[in-house]
Amino acid sequence: MKALVLAGGTGTRLRPITHTAAKQLVPVANKPVLFYGIESIVAAGITEIGVVVGGTADEIRAALGDGSAFGARVTYLPQEAPLGLAHAVLVARDWLADDDFVMYLGDNFVVGGITDVVEEFRRERPDAGILLTKVADPSVFGVAELGPDGSVVRLEEKPPAPRSDLALVGVYLFTPAVHEAVAACVPSARGELEITDAVQWLVDSGHEVRATTITGYWKDTGNADDMLEVNRIVLESVEPGVEGQVDEASEIVGRVRIGPGARIVRSRIVGPTVIGAGTVVTDSHIGAFTSIADGCRISGSEVEFSIVLQGSRIEDAGRVEGSLIGRSVHVSGAVRAPRAHRFVLGDHSRIRIAF
Ligand code: DAU
Repeated sequence: MKALVLAGGTGTRLRPITHTAAKQLVPVANKPVLFYGIESIVAAGITEIGVVVGGTADEIRAALGDGSAFGARVTYLPQEAPLGLAHAVLVARDWLADDDFVMYLGDNFVVGGITDVVEEFRRERPDAGILLTKVADPSVFGVAELGPDGSVVRLEEKPPAPRSDLALVGVYLFTPAVHEAVAACVPSARGELEITDAVQWLVDSGHEVRATTITGYWKDTGNADDMLEVNRIVLESVEPGVEGQVDEASEIVGRVRIGPGARIVRSRIVGPTVIGAGTVVTDSHIGAFTSIADGCRISGSEVEFSIVLQGSRIEDAGRVEGSLIGRSVHVSGAVRAPRAHRFVLGDHSRIRIAF
């Protein structure tokens, strides 16, 4: 069995913190979301991985390399434009040959991995398998309608009036039967070849499509609260360890990972929390539920339930909580300034001010 990982797209969608990067590289507990997907594929016993790449190909290649760091062999499959998930299967047609495969959308995160669903698929081998999860707003997903016996009746892509609250998770299991379905696809209203239509074609032509409902699912929708929540969940199981330096005046409490070259000076770090390589924390309180990426400087501040990306500085900022701070951001207190806010905020920034 092979895996087809979709890491294409243009990378131009605007989201709070990563509008210049591939969305599959959004970090969760200081690790790109794509890495969790690759790791769960390898954990399920699949090591032949095709990665579909588009406008952000260089970034994705730099992150994954040849796959050997994950115990896998990665083949890159360039897609000329993001013409749809079914189009990505077309692009991969020759590489996939006549093997079964799991298709994994690179911006999706499945808590607990996919080993069980892959094993069940291998054992029972229906023509296709889909994963579903209950969501609050199904209209931004593919939505499935199931019959009383749990069989898949109908799939709709981003319906304005969803018929159920069961969203399609971005993990699909396919036999080569999917290729005929993909060949039958025509562009949707949004101009894409939809995998949802291909799966519907399989249902309509009498193929067996098995649906499994899971819990513990997240995708990068640009929603900051969701991102903080998935970060919190992943931090709960982070491997603790101190590779950097912690001075005697500092205290480390609970599940904390401190990267190589990091320095903690006169500070308190409360887990679960991760501190990236080379980050320096001075006279501060960090955590719980906080990810500070590599190369940051935090001094004279309290940071709780937050994500801070690479190279940012937070200095004399008082208490920061529930925040998502992008790359190379500088937050500083202005003690002697008049009581007024002074901002330099990027496009689409969102801030909440306490009065
Ligand atoms: O995430 C789950 C949802 O993914 C499903 O509920 C939907 O049914 C499915 O259509 C898909 O919806 P999105 O519109 O959210 O997919 P998105 O355009 O975000 O693409 C998903 C991933 O696939 C993302 O990592 C980018 C990559 N991609 C996307 C397209 C359209 C490609 O590699 N090539 C493409 O042509």
